[in-house]
Amino acid sequence: MLVNARDMLVKASKGHYAVAQININNLEWTKAVLQTAQELQSPVILGVSEGAGKYMTGMATVAAMVKAMDKSLGITVPVALHLDHGSYEGCLDCIEAGFTSIMFDGSHFSIEENVQKTTELVKKAHDLGMSIEAEVGSIGGEEDGVVGAGEVADPAECKRIADLGIDFLAAGIGNIHGVYPDNWKGLDFDALGKINEITGGMPLVLHGGTGIPEEMIKKAISLGVSKINVNTECQLTFAAATRKYIEAGKDLQGKGFDPRKLLAPGAEAIKATTKEKFEVFGSIGKA
Ligand code: 13P
Repeated sequence: MLVNARDMLVKASKGHYAVAQININNLEWTKAVLQTAQELQSPVILGVSEGAGKYMTGMATVAAMVKAMDKSLGITVPVALHLDHGSYEGCLDCIEAGFTSIMFDGSHFSIEENVQKTTELVKKAHDLGMSIEAEVGSIGGEEDGVVGAGEVADPAECKRIADLGIDFLAAGIGNIHGVYPDNWKGLDFDALGKINEITGGMPLVLHGGTGIPEEMIKKAISLGVSKINVNTECQLTFAAATRKYIEAGKDLQGKGFDPRKLLAPGAEAIKATTKEKFEVFGSIGKA
């Protein structure tokens, strides 16, 4: 059931668990995540980066595919279709395409410009019943061409953006897209605690969910994180399972080259990773 992400995150925030945003890249990804959410009765957010949208030939294609699949698979759990790290134009594109939720990443602008653009997009999104996420303090590393220095968000700036009527806030707290380096210092819980306090319980978003240890995830949830984004981990497990299938020569046995067979182990790996995230984030049975 396609919905915006507001209610599911308010519920998660009250219930002290987090909803996973699993980024999708193609049909197999979408199907695997939707089936897992339905099987485990978990709400889920399908994240789409602008790069992934382009790969799938545009956001209109993505929205049409997700809507049709949600129906054909008989999905009854709440599913939000959400733009990940959107530019201003990217947000307009997804509003037009029929997404149910957008993220405007204005973290690389001055705070004044971030405030101005976020204000405009809050109105546009809410007029259509969509939820909107904004960002303060960039997420480190790179995702689909979006590069961030990884600065920790200033709580006062978080409050300014939160007061614009956004539905949930991504605040940089030392998190990084992609695999964490060995010398990573960990999440800045001091900053997270201050941001949680000053924003008055607004659902907070933790990007860079790949590879964050379970105890840090639990602590982040206890300090107001209600949405955790995962992208790289599904890509890694998909690639490893596909590699194993090919290295075992299974694509050369019988009709093992059939894409429905070739991509099946990868799809199963995405399901297993998604399940693991739902377990750790505590969202199973919360649909
Ligand atoms: P990872 O790729 O590190 O899991 O981060 C995903 C993310 O934050 C999407 O915005």
